Amino acid sequence: MADTLRFDGQVAIVTGAGGGLGRAYALLLASRGAKVVVNDLGGKVDGSGADARAADKVVEEIKAAGGEATPNYDSVENGDKIVKTAMDTWGRVDIVINNAGILRDRSFLKMTDQDWDLVYKVHLLGTYRVSKAAWPIMRQQKYGRIVNVSSASGLYGNEGQGNYAAMKMGIAGLSATLAKEGVRYDVKVNTIAPIAGSRMTASVMPPDLVEALKPEYVAPVVAFLAHASVPESGGIFELGAGWVSRLRWQRSRGGFFQLASFSPEAVRDKFEEISDFDGHPTSYPTSNNDAFGEIMSNLEGQEAPPPPSSTASTPTSTS
Ligand code: NAI
Repeated sequence: MADTLRFDGQVAIVTGAGGGLGRAYALLLASRGAKVVVNDLGGKVDGSGADARAADKVVEEIKAAGGEATPNYDSVENGDKIVKTAMDTWGRVDIVINNAGILRDRSFLKMTDQDWDLVYKVHLLGTYRVSKAAWPIMRQQKYGRIVNVSSASGLYGNEGQGNYAAMKMGIAGLSATLAKEGVRYDVKVNTIAPIAGSRMTASVMPPDLVEALKPEYVAPVVAFLAHASVPESGGIFELGAGWVSRLRWQRSRGGFFQLASFSPEAVRDKFEEISDFDGHPTSYPTSNNDAFGEIMSNLEGQEAPPPPSSTASTPTSTS
């Protein structure tokens, strides 16, 4: 088919590709011509242990299907070694899928520093380290696609997942910034919050749902976000079982106060207005400049003379 999305000549790194979602991403990219570094430490869901067979098995699957792949067994904490595998083997890196993950779920009361640190190391530090090593290469070649993996648990919060949620939200913040920094270099960075049956979700989903929610129903989105033709950078996409949607921030119009009478009581009395998303036009901010219009208009609308003038630029906002 003429318009099939292909990755011929491109090199992709998929972390945690020895099983679950990462394996599905690696197989799909390889089936469409990408040379794939199949990274996996091969540990358990809680991050303990290591086993080279996880990555080896997926490399064999890719090769058996006629694709090209090479294994890497390093932890994502050593992202430079993973990128080095790609460079040593094929001399380039076009795509990074930061997928590796572990879980150490526990109520916040019972969470240990180790639970926090290990989840930090694999998710947020791992995403940072692999991206950091690939970034100068992508910038220099003026091309790159990074897909980072967040989670609904991070974006919305979830009981018993304080460590995981913090790192997954951190990944979304890192992605949003890298998307802005990558614009001039055609390096596009998008984030997904997937749902799929895997060994990770086997402990919280009934077996038939684990079986039904196949990683293959997530992978096409990752492949599109990794493709040269993707129009978007900085997006967050929530998906599973063939359903795909996009997330954005929504900001209420907000409450405007006279500073002369600004007090906790005034905030209480206007709290409904502050939190109102239905009665007034709302906006969808995409940068930290996007609140300046409201801030400046409140400053200018004061009865008392406002503090010294600011030179802040007028922001853009949609309503
Ligand atoms: P999985 O447990 O099947 O796969 C994760 C893989 O990462 C494993 O093969 C594991 O060996 C590897 N890994 C763990 N630590 C590593 C390290 N330090 N270095 C290299 N590899 C390492 O889990 P699943 O479900 O496929 O998850 C993939 C990603 O998707 C994770 O980031 C997870 O947090 C995220 N996710 C998954 C959801 C789901 O419904 N399955 C929901 C939301 C997010």
